[in-house]
Amino acid sequence: MKVTVFGIGYVGLVQAAVLAEVGHQVLCVDVNAERVENLKKGIIPIYEPGLTPLVEKHFASGYLNFTTDAQAGVLHGDVQFIAVGTPPDEDGSADLQYVLAVAKTIATYMQSPKVVIDKSTVPVGTADKVKAAIASVLAERGQQLDFDVVSNPEFLKEGAAVNDCMRPDRIIVGTYDERPKDLMRELYEPFNRNHDKMIFMDVRSAELTKYAANCMLATKISFMNEMANLAELLGADIEAVRKGIGSDPRIGYHFIYPGCGYGGSCFPKDVQALIRSSEQMGYSPKVLQAVEAVNNKQKYKLPELIKQHFDTELAGKTIALWGLSFKPNTDDMREASSRVLMEQLWAAGVKVQAYDPEAMEETQRIYGVRDDLTLVGTKEAALKGADALVICTEWQQFRAPDFDLIKSQLRQAVIFDGRNLYDPRRLAQRGFIYYAIGRGETVRKPS
Ligand code: NAD
Ligand code: UDX
Repeated sequence: MKVTVFGIGYVGLVQAAVLAEVGHQVLCVDVNAERVENLKKGIIPIYEPGLTPLVEKHFASGYLNFTTDAQAGVLHGDVQFIAVGTPPDEDGSADLQYVLAVAKTIATYMQSPKVVIDKSTVPVGTADKVKAAIASVLAERGQQLDFDVVSNPEFLKEGAAVNDCMRPDRIIVGTYDERPKDLMRELYEPFNRNHDKMIFMDVRSAELTKYAANCMLATKISFMNEMANLAELLGADIEAVRKGIGSDPRIGYHFIYPGCGYGGSCFPKDVQALIRSSEQMGYSPKVLQAVEAVNNKQKYKLPELIKQHFDTELAGKTIALWGLSFKPNTDDMREASSRVLMEQLWAAGVKVQAYDPEAMEETQRIYGVRDDLTLVGTKEAALKGADALVICTEWQQFRAPDFDLIKSQLRQAVIFDGRNLYDPRRLAQRGFIYYAIGRGETVRKPS
């Protein structure tokens, strides 16, 4: 099948690569000319395991191509994916300008019927707007071409995106009527093995399904962070509680890891957008508001523990930081907890010596060169002469470090762990002061 994908970001590029992998002919269109040129040279704009070989292979085979020529894109595909960003605007609502711009572009150039698939995460009612935008441009052109608008939200996780798209748990398809269903089945047939993963519904329900899924996951995390904060006050260990409740299949082990707050390009933005959508309908969503408030506060947890530990002697200290990305296996820094941490430390006159396996270039791009930020090439180098170690991201290589080396390199044997990677008892035996999230006694400053 001939497929066009507008937007070559995390979602568009991964989706395009896996569609090419199964034999669809995919043309990607982006307004970012540098990104398009780089992709043609094999330079991939994001770090995503498994993506580079897939893109290289299918660019070479001709199944995957990149262009800035929107007209060529529209003429190429029978299906037209919209996979552009929907960032928050000033009040937190999803900004639909990029989605609607693509809709108008498709309507401007189409010469034959098209199925327009909305992959971007968009508020309920957006498909109606896309449909109206296309109809209005076609009317201006005096054209009477058939088109369908389909809502087909994406559920991939960064760091596991290729696998998530190759083996989706479910494929949600929202349609206005029966007409595009067969084509959607054909498009996704190669991913729809073993059992039927396609779930058809109306477009509004499909649009809400995406927000409901992300908000449910964010709710689990904020709930656990609240329990962790309570566990500290009550002298309980949240890690024991996590295992205790996760064993109930109705709760499950997924997404109940407490930490220094959720980040990324989706949860913070999507929780906020659903709150705004609800408020626009005159409904005040209490649970979602609490989920957001708990998370915003949780991101200040590590800086507060550090301030409390060093008290009046904080200014002038150097902190070693392990982990910058919002989670492991990505170089994405959007809404990362490390950013709140670094900005709080800098405001308090603290220097940061940071290491991340993938996100250092992105950190440099965001913050530029500054006296109070040193990016180093190894996790060990970050420790040298630092007053304490802080962990924001649970990269595998941080899980079993050489604690003797850490102790010898730090001025004080103190670790602030935002991801509960270590055993507090063992660290205490090794002579560390260990602050973790929700682990009872360990969070209190020893007298
Ligand atoms: P992104 O910012 O990484 O990429 C968006 C791309 O769209 C950019 O390359 C940009 O240049 C391009 N673009 C903007 N306007 C364009 C236009 N008119 N024509 C062609 N290209 C244009 O975004 P992303 O992270 O891939 O997210 C895309 C959408 O998917 C968002 O709605 C997001 O919420 C949703 N989503 C993201 C994830 C994720 O993990 N990143 C997961 C599921 C859903
Ligand atoms: C999320 C959804 O999981 C995915 O389905 C959707 O398509 C896009 O948004 P992503 O943002 O890539 O994916 O990352 P995810 O693995 O969900 O983690 C988001 C944040 O939650 C990270 O900061 C992570 O550290 C945090 N998290 C996750 C926790 O704090 N605890 C957990 O138990 C799980």
